[in-house]
Amino acid sequence: MLAIPQIIKSEVRKMYILSDGIPCFAPRTAKEIAEDKYESVIDNIDFYTWLAYGELSFKVKTDSIYSRINAVLHQQMELNQDAVILDLGCGVGRTLYELSETFPNAQFIGVDYSLNMLRRAKQILLENNELQIDLSSSGLPPFKLIGKQLANVHLMQADACALPFKSNSMDVLINTFLIDRVKDLRLALEQMIYCLKPGGFFLLTSPLNFQTTENWKYGQPIILIQLLKELGIEHISFEDNITHTEVLDSRGNQKIWNTLMVWGRKK
Ligand SMILES: C[S@@+](CC[C@H](N)C(=O)[O-])C[C@H]1O[C@@H](n2cnc3c(N)ncnc32)[C@H](O)[C@@H]1O
Repeated sequence: MLAIPQIIKSEVRKMYILSDGIPCFAPRTAKEIAEDKYESVIDNIDFYTWLAYGELSFKVKTDSIYSRINAVLHQQMELNQDAVILDLGCGVGRTLYELSETFPNAQFIGVDYSLNMLRRAKQILLENNELQIDLSSSGLPPFKLIGKQLANVHLMQADACALPFKSNSMDVLINTFLIDRVKDLRLALEQMIYCLKPGGFFLLTSPLNFQTTENWKYGQPIILIQLLKELGIEHISFEDNITHTEVLDSRGNQKIWNTLMVWGRKK
């Protein structure tokens, strides 16, 4: 079993508060919450759940990137019982849902800024109830997810730009569809690489569809890869223009993301 305090920086260890059993390292003001679309979707969390998990419902077949991530990690890593995998910007837990099947003995940490997303991740990953996902606002029929009640998944609220983890504490760091959302991309990558062990595995996926003007300077794969090298990632491989599809409604309208996947190891 993972001893969480051992991987948290001593200066922040006593500073977190708990919300619904989730440790919060970056509590936010009401204004910040109101401005964050992942927090303000309280009524729409079922739709976010659908975007992440809808492909698992047998009526919809789409290209999803999660099984590709799983395959790359499986190919690259043999993970023992003590291995710690951090999924940063874990949202409603889709990547962890997949990886926890491939690596049942590893320890997983899911971190997100949004408590709204984490509460849903908690229902799916840590509890054992049947969730009825209501998609009537998009004309879709409801679908069910059964909570997995995983003992090796730990969820926390924190900001990717100010991570609470000690240096060299993670064996694997993954982030899917996060980097185009963070305020300061370079700082977030520095934080991620700081907590990765030497030789640790790093993987990100992103459509490079940045939400801040400042981050568009990293908008080409080659520039982003150069930045990762500068920050200490080596043996880099990448695939670009992987199709990741989100089904939006019962008409089958779709959003198709041309997604970049990059992986490598910390020096
Ligand atoms: C597009 S969603 C992707 C969620 C998940 N990785 C997936 O593939 O389903 C982006 C997630 O990043 C989170 N996020 C945005 N900024 C963040 C930050 N600064 N620190 C941590 N999480 C952040 C959001 O709350 C949201 O859950």
